[in-house]
Amino acid sequence: MPSTRALASNGLEFVADDMAQVDRVIHLRLSSDVTLINQISSYIVGAGGKRIRPKLVLLFARALGFEGPERFELAAIVEFIHTATLLHDDVVDESSMRRGRQTANALFGNAASVLVGDFLYSRAFQMMVSVGRLRVLDVLADATNVIAEGEVLQLLNMHDPDLAVEDYLRVIRYKTAKLFEASARLGAVLGFAGASVEESCADYGRSLGTAFQLVDDLLDYEGNSQELGKNVGDDLREGKPTLPLLMAIERGSPAERDLVRQAIIDGDVGRLPDILQIVRRTGALQATREAARLEAAKAQDSLVLLPESLARDALLDLCVRSVERSS
Ligand code: IPE
Ligand code: IPE
Ligand code: MG
Ligand code: MG
Repeated sequence: MPSTRALASNGLEFVADDMAQVDRVIHLRLSSDVTLINQISSYIVGAGGKRIRPKLVLLFARALGFEGPERFELAAIVEFIHTATLLHDDVVDESSMRRGRQTANALFGNAASVLVGDFLYSRAFQMMVSVGRLRVLDVLADATNVIAEGEVLQLLNMHDPDLAVEDYLRVIRYKTAKLFEASARLGAVLGFAGASVEESCADYGRSLGTAFQLVDDLLDYEGNSQELGKNVGDDLREGKPTLPLLMAIERGSPAERDLVRQAIIDGDVGRLPDILQIVRRTGALQATREAARLEAAKAQDSLVLLPESLARDALLDLCVRSVERSS
């Protein structure tokens, strides 16, 4: 595994100016003549977010020596696609808090959230065309399609306590890891990387995205709403069979197993205190964190083909931070 020199700082100071440019593109491209669109999109974008996916585009582009202005456009595009999925996801999950604020669906209603999500998706496609590279369209058309498949698959898995771990992993690879993969791949596409380097960048994104969602699913039990900016317990309320619960079913006593299974079937958030005790006692939370660590280590290993650089160090560091994060 390559060493991580950048661990002491957040390792991203050198892309701060680039991120400011991305921010400018985001705000510029959000505009619409329809007031409600501006209102809702500024509301969710203005709340911030970690902006991990645009950072992947910028870091991979830099690691491969590309410094053209198209990188800002592509970074903004992946953030728009991400934001569109959040608007839709909060409707589907009936979530009421995101980025420390009321969700757009809670404030403006489900219909407006879905439609503005569609606006962001289609705006992202307009921007892709303006970049003028067919490979970019190819990568992002594929990614958005797979994300939609992931969300639908997840819907089918709701309230199913017998879900196999590999089917759970398929959902998170589709709904989350795919966009991380596309973001990393786009950096490589911008840098005109050869096929094997492009594939290893994509591998990095896929593994990091998987680790990232595993931790998200963990934090839905272990986390703190204030820090997360989202309500904990949303997954249980929806009857989502995520890895902490699947592990608890595998490892629990017969009584614990029955309780967790029933809570998934009923989507019974009232059982959260009992479930918390069970996921802790059985080591299901630790095992989920461990699974995330393994994925993150795989992501780090994918970087061996990249030349040493500050950008590569930051990508290594991002793996550690994504697993140990609490927000
Ligand atoms: C939230 O993504 C959705 C998941 C894939 C877990 P982020 O945690 O990247 O959300 P923001 O953009 O930082 O709010
Ligand atoms: C991620 O899953 C959804 C997307 C990829 C849009 P979650 O439903 O767990 O994400 P949060 O927890 O609402 O951010
Ligand atoms: Mg959700
Ligand atoms: Mg979640």
